[in-house]
Amino acid sequence: MPSTILVGGFFGDEGKGKIIAYLAKHDKPDLVARGGVGPNAGHTVIEEGTRYALRMVSSGLVCESARLLIGAGVLVDPRVLRGEIESFGLQGRVGVDRRCGIIELEHIEADKSDAHLKGKIGSTGTGCGPANSARVLRKSRQAKDVKELEEFLCDVPLEINEALDRGKGVLVEGTQGFGISLLYGTYPFVTSKDTTASQMAADVGIGPTRVDEVIVVFKSFPTRVGEGPFETQMTEERATALHIEEYGTVTRRKRRIGEWDGKMAAYSAMINGATMIALSGVDRLDASCRGVKEYEELSKEVKEFVAQVERDTRVPVKLISTGPELSEIVDLREKK
Ligand code: IMP
Ligand code: MG
Repeated sequence: MPSTILVGGFFGDEGKGKIIAYLAKHDKPDLVARGGVGPNAGHTVIEEGTRYALRMVSSGLVCESARLLIGAGVLVDPRVLRGEIESFGLQGRVGVDRRCGIIELEHIEADKSDAHLKGKIGSTGTGCGPANSARVLRKSRQAKDVKELEEFLCDVPLEINEALDRGKGVLVEGTQGFGISLLYGTYPFVTSKDTTASQMAADVGIGPTRVDEVIVVFKSFPTRVGEGPFETQMTEERATALHIEEYGTVTRRKRRIGEWDGKMAAYSAMINGATMIALSGVDRLDASCRGVKEYEELSKEVKEFVAQVERDTRVPVKLISTGPELSEIVDLREKK
């Protein structure tokens, strides 16, 4: 099993958690490592009716044999991490890199009260911006400085690279999305770090030459939470007519909904170096495709849409998510 990085191609909330959970369950990687900014990202996994909303621990938790790592680039909120480990019974499976940055209560307060961050940018208020700022100013604590994290501390790059040396499977879970990258997104309406595959590799400590696959997840109808430009945003009336209404996993804010953006998808696939695409939410395009697992059973409309995504991005679509449950997916990886 190769090393794989998965990232969001639009503005976040593309359904990365579900795809990671499916890949973890199906491919049984030895390690699943989370990259990305921190607990501002909410990943949702639904397995046989059980719903997990995760902000720190990887969505790979559904594969019981997988070790769950948090890369050095990620900001850790010890309170959120502890809560998830306890709620989901993950003791003994979680490893936190010694060098992760720490979110302090003062960072959360600053994020929530700052007129620029909260007011203008529409931050999630989880302390990530102020914590990354403290990290850049070299005023941040690291995971190794936090007593309660001691039992989880490890060297994530060493674990991953040694696992790869032994031919084991490694899955890297990116968070956020291309459009809110600090480098490539709609600055200043962005998160506090880059969100592309190269950043995820750096976050977990694997060099570019060791990455075999980059999966970019696109949503059939992209969404955006918080402020900032959204070129293909649709009217509320159209979203209602399409029966699309979504709320943020972390903030419960209503998400803005847009039409497929082929230009953005192409640019995002390019910078991420996509080797394959995972497409989510095709059941929004045609409700008859809900839960379908075979390509042949998809409607003509959905098949045409898949072909359009491939034309737009020039990257093969190999995973097609047909509903929120992790088993609701068409997997074309071996067939195409
Ligand atoms: P911050 O990362 O909390 O500072 O928020 C900055 C901007 O990025 C806001 O518009 C947030 O809504 C957005 N954002 C941050 N993380 C995510 C995510 O995981 N999904 C979607 N939007 C996000
Ligand atoms: Mg999310």
